Amino acid sequence: MSESYQRDSQIALDDVHYAPFAPGERELNLLGQVDGKRVLELACGGAQNSIALSRWGASTVGMDISPTQLRRALTLRSEAKTQVELVMGDMELPRMFKPGSFDIVLSSFGWEFIPDLGVCFHECYALLKPGGVMIVSTAHPLNAFVWDERQQAVLVTDYFNPPVEVWEDSVPDGHDPGTTFFHTFEEMFGLLTAEGFRIDKVLEPYPTALVAEARESNHEPPYAGPYWDESRDRLLKVPFAIVYVASK
Ligand SMILES: C[S@@+](CC[C@H](N)C(=O)[O-])C[C@H]1O[C@@H](n2cnc3c(N)ncnc32)[C@H](O)[C@@H]1O
Repeated sequence: MSESYQRDSQIALDDVHYAPFAPGERELNLLGQVDGKRVLELACGGAQNSIALSRWGASTVGMDISPTQLRRALTLRSEAKTQVELVMGDMELPRMFKPGSFDIVLSSFGWEFIPDLGVCFHECYALLKPGGVMIVSTAHPLNAFVWDERQQAVLVTDYFNPPVEVWEDSVPDGHDPGTTFFHTFEEMFGLLTAEGFRIDKVLEPYPTALVAEARESNHEPPYAGPYWDESRDRLLKVPFAIVYVASK
């Protein structure tokens, strides 16, 4: 899906995005001062977040499993003339890095593709320095459920047993389809704290830019684009993402 995702998304290179049409790091300030910090971005895709962080003075590594996404990241990295290091790998087991070597581990929309998040959080905890920060921006549990256009409402069939979403349209070449795993808030809280993380903040970012756009006031969010056109009504009523700010 990389080609259509990158073509139809508008992703800033000068801010860190956490949710569609929502404020980014410039406004939310979840990371604090990043100048001189060592940052790992998991499931970096086109590495737009890593590029922004590198421009702000961080030493950044972007990791993704998709060579197509990483090719896009290479192009953007050279266009932006930044020093982001790019690595291909599976974020469930990011064992190619030295334990205790990062100040920040973050990912926007990667965690939901990991079959065993507990394993992933265990590895991430080990990678962080004491006091390090982890940002888990992931699919909100209500995202597991179908949007009913007529009722303009989400049909929550069974919150406690959310379905796994299978991306049938991502398999034109016959490979295994992509899958999205949804987790309840209680489950995520439990998985993070079980590894030793302290949860400092939880956000359900509101798409303020959609409201600003309707009022014709100028407001460019760091993450937007026609990719989201079909979901606009839904985004205004139900959070797309949930963001956990955790620390070691
Ligand atoms: C929705 S995209 C988000 C990309 C980027 N973080 C962004 O915000 O634009 C999901 C990304 O997760 C990557 N991904 C999926 N499973 C992965 C895994 N096991 N390890 C590393 N990356 C993975 C995909 O290749 C894709 O780039």
